[in-house]
Amino acid sequence: MIEKEKIEEVKRLVDIVGVISQYVQLRKMGKNYRALCPFHHETEPSFYVSPEKRMFYCFGCKKSGNAISFLMEYEKLDFPAAVKKLAHSVGLEIDTSHGLKHKELYDTNESAAQYYSLCLTREVGKRGKQYLLERKTDINRLKEFHLGYAPTSGGLITYMRQKGISSDCLNKLGLISNGREVFRARIIFPIFNLSGRVIGFGGRGIDDNIKPKYLNSPESPIFKKGDVLYGLFQTRENIRQHNDAILVEGYFDLLSLYQHGFNYCAAPLGTSLTENQSSLIARYTKRVNILFDGDLSGIKAALRAIGLLINSQVDVFVTALPDEQDPDALIREGDEEKLRKAVKDAVDFFHFYRRMVKTDTVEQEVTLIKDLIQMISTIRDPIRQDRYIKYAAHVFDITEDKIKKEMRADEVEKPVIKKQRETKLTEGEQLIIWLISYREFVSLAREVLSSDDFEDKNLKKIYELLCKDDKISVDEIMEQSNEYVHERLIGPLMRNEPISQDGFTSALIRYKLRVEDRKQEVELARVKGNEEAEERVLRKHMELKRKLTNLSWDHVQAPQ
Ligand code: CTP
Ligand code: MN
Repeated sequence: MIEKEKIEEVKRLVDIVGVISQYVQLRKMGKNYRALCPFHHETEPSFYVSPEKRMFYCFGCKKSGNAISFLMEYEKLDFPAAVKKLAHSVGLEIDTSHGLKHKELYDTNESAAQYYSLCLTREVGKRGKQYLLERKTDINRLKEFHLGYAPTSGGLITYMRQKGISSDCLNKLGLISNGREVFRARIIFPIFNLSGRVIGFGGRGIDDNIKPKYLNSPESPIFKKGDVLYGLFQTRENIRQHNDAILVEGYFDLLSLYQHGFNYCAAPLGTSLTENQSSLIARYTKRVNILFDGDLSGIKAALRAIGLLINSQVDVFVTALPDEQDPDALIREGDEEKLRKAVKDAVDFFHFYRRMVKTDTVEQEVTLIKDLIQMISTIRDPIRQDRYIKYAAHVFDITEDKIKKEMRADEVEKPVIKKQRETKLTEGEQLIIWLISYREFVSLAREVLSSDDFEDKNLKKIYELLCKDDKISVDEIMEQSNEYVHERLIGPLMRNEPISQDGFTSALIRYKLRVEDRKQEVELARVKGNEEAEERVLRKHMELKRKLTNLSWDHVQAPQ
């Protein structure tokens, strides 16, 4: 656990605009900053950052939060990692290693990775070393990947026992099954998450009798295959700097490329690219070059990946490899130059798609055209989009207008979250929003309202927080509130509509009068039939209302 004070300190020191602008292009709009939302696709910016409130909010997809939650979401970090990263950026250091939820599992994987890499340096790992040598894999140039070897004879269980690690953990992580070690006679690729922790392993059999050729850790509480890209932890900084990533199919493809200077690669883990992996890479680059095998399954996987990546707002290029070749093999055969050239000559998705998708009938062609138009409709850059429309019009002999019309039809079908109307705020909600935004009104409100005047317990709680400490940060208020508050209040809060003191006072009094009316009704109902009591109630409330009205005249300036 990171101490609360440390977290508060980080929050205080960090400038949310500075943090978010590292990832998103922000434009100043009055007090706030605005951008295209990085969390959902949109063409009109509805993502706002308020330096004053230290919050971000998207009016489209409703995501909101502070600098920490932004980093968690954007970089897919867990809470401690996000705090740590922010702390580092403001010169604080925090040790989170003992604050992890699944610490035992991470530690076990860490030790297993240590064991496997140790084996590679020992006699027991001779065959592994030999195998890597044959594949021209230079572990000295791949240190940060912590490659290892799982010997035929095993040994992990003994090693772990000496370290006092429970076999329960080993089972949960799929390192042992039915008391036997799962990885044997395999080159081991530890798989890292973006915080640099080992979450699972891949293993390649060192000869072709070992089946299956590749074996991955099963999913576990810390490992979801479709959420990680192999190598991304090691390459993401390069990817960001290049604004380009090479997407390859396999472990060895990635390692070969890396050791030959293509240090901005990533690979899915033996399955075709998932939506999560696609949006993950889109966080680091707006251009991806798909470099899959030249065989049929490679091409099919590429076609699928194109659609996903385009939908993640990435400009997609494809490097076509000669039949049946894979990047690792090309390099191994000394054809590095060929590969370099192929990467340089990558074609855009449109060319590739059209070339690869065979159309024998008009219906198939229609499907292809619609597919491509759908992809074009998600291109971010208007100039590029326009180019592609022109190009598609030319290639398929359709008018640009028809393409544009089809693109609009496409948009209508998509659920347009942005247009969703926010339901009107209640008077109580409006008051609370003003009080959060304009703290100078808190003392005025206290003269008039008690917390019981808020029927809604969420609003009541916020009001109490504000009365107790009118300097309380918006962040703190949000943390103490539930989902309901987030959904209802953050949007209007970010809108920051100005209100004058007069306006606020009138609204306040109006609200209180209504509360009093309701109370009066309840009390009258209670004493119904007892005329004397009824009169007392009426008089009491009349008095209260008179006071309120006077108060309102005291505070509201007379019009000139
Ligand atoms: N893969 C897998 N299970 C298999 C085969 C492949 O999980 N039985 C995954 C691995 O992640 C592998 C990737 O798919 O890295 C690419 O597969 P393939 O092209 O068959 O592997 P190569 O990289 O060509 O493997 P090698 O060169 O080692 O034969
Ligand atoms: Mn291959």
